[in-house]
Amino acid sequence: MSKDGLILPKDFPQLLNDTFLRAARGEETEHVPVWCMRQAGRYLPEFRETRAGKDFFETCRSPETCCELTLQPLRRFAFDAAIIFSDILVVPQAMGMDVQMVPGKGPTFPEPLKEPEDLQRLQTKVDVGKELGYVFKAITLTRHKIEGKVPLIGFTGAPWTLMSYMIEGGGSNTHSKAKRWLYRHPESSHMLLRMLTDVIVEYLLGQVAAGAQALQVFESHAGILGPVEFKEFSLPYLRDIAHRVKDKLKEAGQDVPMIVFAKDAHYGVEDLSQSNYEVVGLDWTIDPRSARERTGGKVSLQGNMDPCALYAPKEQISDIVKRMLEGFGTRGYIANLGHGLYPDMDPENVGAFVEAVHQHSKQMIKQM
Ligand code: CP3
Repeated sequence: MSKDGLILPKDFPQLLNDTFLRAARGEETEHVPVWCMRQAGRYLPEFRETRAGKDFFETCRSPETCCELTLQPLRRFAFDAAIIFSDILVVPQAMGMDVQMVPGKGPTFPEPLKEPEDLQRLQTKVDVGKELGYVFKAITLTRHKIEGKVPLIGFTGAPWTLMSYMIEGGGSNTHSKAKRWLYRHPESSHMLLRMLTDVIVEYLLGQVAAGAQALQVFESHAGILGPVEFKEFSLPYLRDIAHRVKDKLKEAGQDVPMIVFAKDAHYGVEDLSQSNYEVVGLDWTIDPRSARERTGGKVSLQGNMDPCALYAPKEQISDIVKRMLEGFGTRGYIANLGHGLYPDMDPENVGAFVEAVHQHSKQMIKQM
């Protein structure tokens, strides 16, 4: 971004496959586009080799390595989109928190937020260009190296999901420390959520300026909230992010589809479809037909095969995919899993999933 806030175009290779972008906007396509959350991940031997012996967040700070990891799955599978290799927890780091990835344990904050006074430890005015410039560099480099094969997706964690990590200090089953804040310190909770929203808006705009062609917001911990808490502590911030990012992009004459993925937020599907996101991502606990009915054709849908269905034999994967396509229909639909790939998954079955989406959807569209 230039000093006056304008987003400058860069000389990127021409996009050769825009199926994903068209589906996001509800336009016609020749096949249903497909990508997988965590497609750049440990299920790939080449990923494990590139990551071997290196600290996770050091890897995130190397644009060249992020670029290589992002491109690896595209060399094996006919994915219709790539997602930049990074992590949602780089945002709390940019706000001054220490986060480490402990092998076998996952993300760990040695000094999580305990009481509202701890908010004073956080950086309120974050210079995203300085603190997260390494992500922007990775995006720009990848956008060049991808040679226009498919669009590149940028992403962020949503405020509630990041807040819960910052208070829990890592993964948790109950999220009771973070939820305690919502009930005991609602004002400080809103203050933290607002602080996160401000950084996230700048971060997403920086990703677009660097070359991201779509944006996904991960509200991975939506399911731990009930409908009332979701409406108070998650939805307003998800909406604020979409509105502010879109307003700024409009000023710059840019149109970048946004995806909201609020995992396990069944009760929120109607609201999410009226939140200024082009696409609502779904986990596997929602029936495709009912999701279509409840969102009334207002948005495109993304998802939602149970990741564990990839443990099934290949022929069965093909049947499951066919049923999923019939449920969602082929228009305004992006095939994906209901959550990320697991490290023990067989790359061959991932390939079978991608093939099945392309093959069945081509046939269905031809027969229309
Ligand atoms: O391919 C892609 O999807 C792009 C890269 C990506 C990663 N993390 C790489 C990663 C994305 C989009 C994320 C987002 C992310 N990170 C989320 C939101 C999505 C979701 O899963 O709900 C969350 C909650 C995180 C936090 C996080 N980072 C967790 C829980 C873990 C797993 C820890 C573990 O030990 O399993 C990570 C680490 C991580 N991020 C890995 C990858 C490929 C695996 C660790 C490694 O490579 O060493």
